[in-house]
Amino acid sequence: MTTVMPVGARDLAIETAKDAGAILRERLELDRTIDFKGAIDLVTDADRASEELVGTRITTAFPEHQFVGEESMFISGDTPAGSESYTWLVDPLDGTTNYAHRYPHFAVSIALEHAGQVILGVVYDPMRDELFVSERGAGATLNGAPISVSAIDNVERALLGTGFAYDPDARTENARIWNGFLSLCQGVRRDGSAALNLCYVACGRLDGFWERPLNAWDLAAGSLMVEEAGGVVTGFDGTPFGPYRREIVCANGLLFAELSREISRLSNEHG
Ligand code: IPD
Ligand code: CA
Ligand code: CA
Repeated sequence: MTTVMPVGARDLAIETAKDAGAILRERLELDRTIDFKGAIDLVTDADRASEELVGTRITTAFPEHQFVGEESMFISGDTPAGSESYTWLVDPLDGTTNYAHRYPHFAVSIALEHAGQVILGVVYDPMRDELFVSERGAGATLNGAPISVSAIDNVERALLGTGFAYDPDARTENARIWNGFLSLCQGVRRDGSAALNLCYVACGRLDGFWERPLNAWDLAAGSLMVEEAGGVVTGFDGTPFGPYRREIVCANGLLFAELSREISRLSNEHG
């Protein structure tokens, strides 16, 4: 099947991510409302304001497309994985816990999926003014300059990233993997934004990343960034990645096999 990028989609996603990011940046130091979606899963007024802007722009420009935003304000229809329609997968604020504490590390993530594949990914970090863009078959860029994954070829020399989901059982499982890597690699970072973690793998600041469970809006844009920057992206079992898989392991191609093997070993060790 030929994938056709809808006319104007790339420019709209870029402009919208930057404008939504500006909302987040402007509101960071202001008073905010914080609601709880779960025991530790937060949503702030800024998440909602960002999604309002992104959802309005995209559903107005492409009323025939599906739109799935984390805060659900614009969800239309069921997740059409593998269908021929276009679906926008949007995290209006990835890094909400950071944001709620005014820890300045978060992003807006916008992706377009077609026939089960991400074809466009845009991630914007408003605090560093860093814009990551990827288009299937056309590479990945940071502020317009091409990016590529690192060349670190063994876990011992790698700086890795992960994240911890809001679910306590998933946290316990990932703590085992995290503990294992503490003595195996140069360092493990957990800085609260999966979308930025994936962009950091794409531009070589991190050598590899893993996390589960995640949602399509966390993963979609960043996963394409890694692929288009020359990295390898799969599920935990090494089978092909898809935006609705809810898990990811990725790294540069030299490191991937060793990283993936260690993750399987550590997750099965006491499981
Ligand atoms: C979270 C962040 C975090 C990851 C969590 C996600 P949110 O997204 O990406 O890094 O570890 O699993 O849910 O809630 O800040 O949009
Ligand atoms: Ca998220
Ligand atoms: Ca979010």
